Amino acid sequence: MKILALNWKLNPEAEREALSLAAYSDREGVIIFPPAVFLRRVSERTRKIETGAQNIFWEFSGAFTGETSPSMAKDAGARWALVGHSERRKYFGETNETVNRKIKAAEQAGLRVMLCVGEPWPVRKRGMKAAESFVRQQLRQGLSGVRRKPIIAYEPIWAISGGAANHPSDTPEDSARMAAFIKKTLSPKPYTLRPQVLYGGSVNSKNIAAFLKPKEVNGVLIGSAGLKKEELRKMFEISNIT
Ligand code: PGA
Repeated sequence: MKILALNWKLNPEAEREALSLAAYSDREGVIIFPPAVFLRRVSERTRKIETGAQNIFWEFSGAFTGETSPSMAKDAGARWALVGHSERRKYFGETNETVNRKIKAAEQAGLRVMLCVGEPWPVRKRGMKAAESFVRQQLRQGLSGVRRKPIIAYEPIWAISGGAANHPSDTPEDSARMAAFIKKTLSPKPYTLRPQVLYGGSVNSKNIAAFLKPKEVNGVLIGSAGLKKEELRKMFEISNIT
């Protein structure tokens, strides 16, 4: 079964949408990341759908104004923590080192982690090999000393939010290639359990089937299209049959 993860970012309508989704399709394989203040209510109203925090801090208590600890998120019903999203790296100064601390804290609190990785356009412009080394570095540093392998969400930064004006969107072929690369990087020995890899970046009802098709890709992380009712309904339908 492929995974559909919904990152609802800072959108006030996320709670209403989550509750209506829970009412019409509370199914396994769906993970919702609502804004933190909606976590408890959304978690209480869902059974098969799992919920997660869009961000957590690495400390569990103290003088850290505005932060949410992993155990607080868990207490509010989260089973997951999204860590290292490119918007957090860009606007809130997250680095591979802080990402690593957050993953360890999430692990300690018993949350499962979805780690976001992905290269910016100037790197990808140099080719897939350059993108792979960028992602390898994010994985090495982000996962240093981490015991339980998280789900990896590969989101090329330039393909997020409709893609940047002059850049082409990613293709299902290249995202499958990167997913295979990530699996290989994280499983050096043959026959070890390979981590799951999702693709994210402007997934919508028109392209979701193509992105879900390759066997290397275990699911998708959806942003803006996941907040449009009709789009979401279609994506659910399509992913059920893929
Ligand atoms: P998008 O967002 O689907 O709107 O590109 C994906 C994400 O940022 O996780």
